[in-house]
Amino acid sequence: MALVDVEAPAGVSFLLNGKPVHLDASPAARLSLALRERGEAKDVKVGCDAGDCGACTVLVDGLPVCSCTTALGQVDGAHVETQAGLVANDPQARALADAFQRHQAAQCGICTPGMMVSAVALLRENSAPQEAEVLDALGGVLCRCTGYRKIIDAVMDVNGKAEPVPVEARAGEITSGVGAAIARIDGWPKVSGSERFGDDVAPAGSLVVKVIRSPHHHAAFELGDLGAYRRVSGLDLVMSAADVPGQNRFGVIPGFEDQPMFAEGETRFKGEAVAAVVGQADVVAALDLSAFPVTWTPLPHALVPNEAAKVANLHETRANNVMCRGFVRHGDPEAAMPAASVVVEGTFSTGFIEHGYIEPEAAYAERRGERLEVHCCTQAPYMNRAGLAGLLGLSERAIRVVPTAVGGGFGSKLDLTAQPYAALAAWLTGRPVRITYSRGESIASSTKRHPSEISMKIGATADGTILAVEFDGTFNTGAYASWGPTVANRVPIHASGPYRTPNYVARSAGIHTNTAPAGAFRGFGVPQSALAQEPLYDEIARALGIDRLEFRRRNALQNGDPTVTGQVFTQGMGIIDCFDALEPHWKRVVAEAEAFNASADGQVRRGVGVAGGWYGCGNTSMSNPSTIRAGITKEGKVVLHQGATDIGQGSNTVITQIFATALGLPVEAITLVGPDTDVTPDAGKTSASRQTFITGNAARLCGEALRARILRLGNVSDGAVLKIIGATIIAHDAAGERVIDIASLEPDNGSYVLETIESYDPPTSPLDENGQGEPYAVFGTTAQMAEVEVDMALGTVKLLRIIAAHDVGKAINPLLVEGQVHGGVAQGIGLALMEEFLPGRTENLHDYLIPTIGDVPPIDVLILETGDAHGPYGAKGLGEHCLIPTAPAIINAITDASGAKVRHMPATPDKVLQAIRECSAAH
Ligand code: FES
Ligand code: FES
Repeated sequence: MALVDVEAPAGVSFLLNGKPVHLDASPAARLSLALRERGEAKDVKVGCDAGDCGACTVLVDGLPVCSCTTALGQVDGAHVETQAGLVANDPQARALADAFQRHQAAQCGICTPGMMVSAVALLRENSAPQEAEVLDALGGVLCRCTGYRKIIDAVMDVNGKAEPVPVEARAGEITSGVGAAIARIDGWPKVSGSERFGDDVAPAGSLVVKVIRSPHHHAAFELGDLGAYRRVSGLDLVMSAADVPGQNRFGVIPGFEDQPMFAEGETRFKGEAVAAVVGQADVVAALDLSAFPVTWTPLPHALVPNEAAKVANLHETRANNVMCRGFVRHGDPEAAMPAASVVVEGTFSTGFIEHGYIEPEAAYAERRGERLEVHCCTQAPYMNRAGLAGLLGLSERAIRVVPTAVGGGFGSKLDLTAQPYAALAAWLTGRPVRITYSRGESIASSTKRHPSEISMKIGATADGTILAVEFDGTFNTGAYASWGPTVANRVPIHASGPYRTPNYVARSAGIHTNTAPAGAFRGFGVPQSALAQEPLYDEIARALGIDRLEFRRRNALQNGDPTVTGQVFTQGMGIIDCFDALEPHWKRVVAEAEAFNASADGQVRRGVGVAGGWYGCGNTSMSNPSTIRAGITKEGKVVLHQGATDIGQGSNTVITQIFATALGLPVEAITLVGPDTDVTPDAGKTSASRQTFITGNAARLCGEALRARILRLGNVSDGAVLKIIGATIIAHDAAGERVIDIASLEPDNGSYVLETIESYDPPTSPLDENGQGEPYAVFGTTAQMAEVEVDMALGTVKLLRIIAAHDVGKAINPLLVEGQVHGGVAQGIGLALMEEFLPGRTENLHDYLIPTIGDVPPIDVLILETGDAHGPYGAKGLGEHCLIPTAPAIINAITDASGAKVRHMPATPDKVLQAIRECSAAH
């Protein structure tokens, strides 16, 4: 956010959380900015600065208001209350904080202040609200993580027992370890207002960076006299490509580092950086950026792949703007297809999807001698460090990356965004420097979900057995590669869905266009391919007169079946369990929908849809290890160095539960040290549903190794029960009790008397030229049902319920599993019904719509624990899986209700209505 309009000296006096304050700022200043920058109320969050997200909600004389659209002068003499003040001073707010913890209602926590403040206003009027009243009161606050259901539960349960989540105790087991639905161990700062995100950590007086960006989709440009502009404007620095000391290129896939920090002579998308200004906050806020010395020459541009071949190559070495291709062939689909009794085919498309995290990108950097320290909201601290080292021409050891709390990521905060600008400015000026993207520049310049154009053909035998599949997918990868190669490679492996497909060919291509780079977004292309495959599965089932769930069940991969890459799992393939779990719900809900349709007047019709999904956890056929370090201090403190960034999904809690179980101590005995490249080993990036599985395995190995050392020291048996009391470990086994005096042990190193470091890298194999091999050690599977009502006259769709069955192998924390599923389902709803980023047109949160609290229906989560031999205690990853079947289940339900076949997402009312008319015309 721009640090604007707080400099005028007038000043305003009011009560802030019960205490008188006087802020020396203009009465016209945004209240949010004044509270954060002058009132030290960093618990007031800013997600949009436009009244769209509600993150900045505070109470003014008891009424909830958006502080970003309230002038400071409007609260003169009033009482302003924020989340932190409410939780500290108001017992009901404190009870609400407990309820949020009890229900896991805060994931990343960036929306939590706005949610809680709005809820307190409601609860002061009505201490036992009904659901409709909660929806009404919280309707102005957006959340991208939780799917809202846990938030609703928490508000309605505010008067419930403020106790830890009940855990079923079993004799001899640690009740906070694996399998326990304990509250998030890092949750209290989120619900009490003390959490610090990317924009919350810079010291007062830090210089501010503002990036100068291209206003054109494609343009040549020339910079003028930057030195003169700096002097006239009172800036400390103006940076451009000429100031980048290292290589002016970054990226995330080796061989595809193609994105400049500052464009050189040509910009390839609207929003690309060409320069940056650095100065005091008030100086930068007052700048007339229209006077910035740059001249533009617009060039022909392509925004969609089928125009890309008509414009010059965006990158010299990539002919026809093809970034890369993916390919999998199994069996002989061309020969098999003619033998099919039923063949269905279609073309499908999806648009750009914006991640829509409520926290815009932010970073703060400080030079310390010949080292640089960068604090930022990131999903990948070690990758960020490597990228920054390349840009700055420094060794990786000269850079320390310290992740702040992350207010949502979903894939986009894997890439470098704001960090390089703060880092370079701090390096060059020697001063602390901060940067926070505005919502507009966040949406314009960050990565997106790849738009897709897919053709698919599926053939089946008369008894409903899938015989052959042909798939072609074109993915708009934008101006730079980002994670495009990952999408191009992953989609052909997954486009069959979790079904036996003996004859299969899938081709994919990532095509460059003049749009923001498409990158990683929950699912890496798999949600797009499922939106083609699953509707076609419904068409085959209907053509053959087979129940749609039964048809999927018949074709579901089982242990021993080869996948389309020829990989055979002897265990761990759980998709049939997911369909079996849905079956009783399916029969009931289908019958209810039929009864409704038989009795209603026909304007509103109900429908039910089902879809399956799978996702290979971790990198595709590539090494992706995680390392975990732990130690015991002389004083008896057990310290876990856990480097998996927790972006709200819960890795801080889950990894600690796994480690504690392996060590044989309760979670409460563990002190957590979070990600920091100076003190925490590399646990890899938080993406591809890898942390529970891969870092979890490293934590298990580390816990087991530390336990083994303790057992050896005490000379006790494997099954010994351990306790740490002060500086002594007490080990108890059948032979009796042994006491180990920790303080007397020789130190392993300066910090710990006992230390272990362990790594885990999942077993995979490279794919051959036909895409055959073993790309993943573990697949997670899921099947979801959606029940909808379609208004046949308006084309509107109302979601009634989602039922989601997920095989997670082992639920390390069932409450966190539910939260992940809810959040993924909500994002699937957005993909199906409302979201589409249009470059240059939807760069805010009122034109780009994400699901609100009123858009997410009740979600029933069916957790299945089939166990996986590779997973820690049998656990698989979950994050990506949750949204893969949601959108196709909804689309199939719309077809079931109305006959409408919507092939081009999102299924907005106009498209649904058009499809209803096409269906009517065809019959
Ligand atoms: Fe105020 Fe978004 S920051 S509504
Ligand atoms: Fe609501 Fe992350 S918890 S936005």
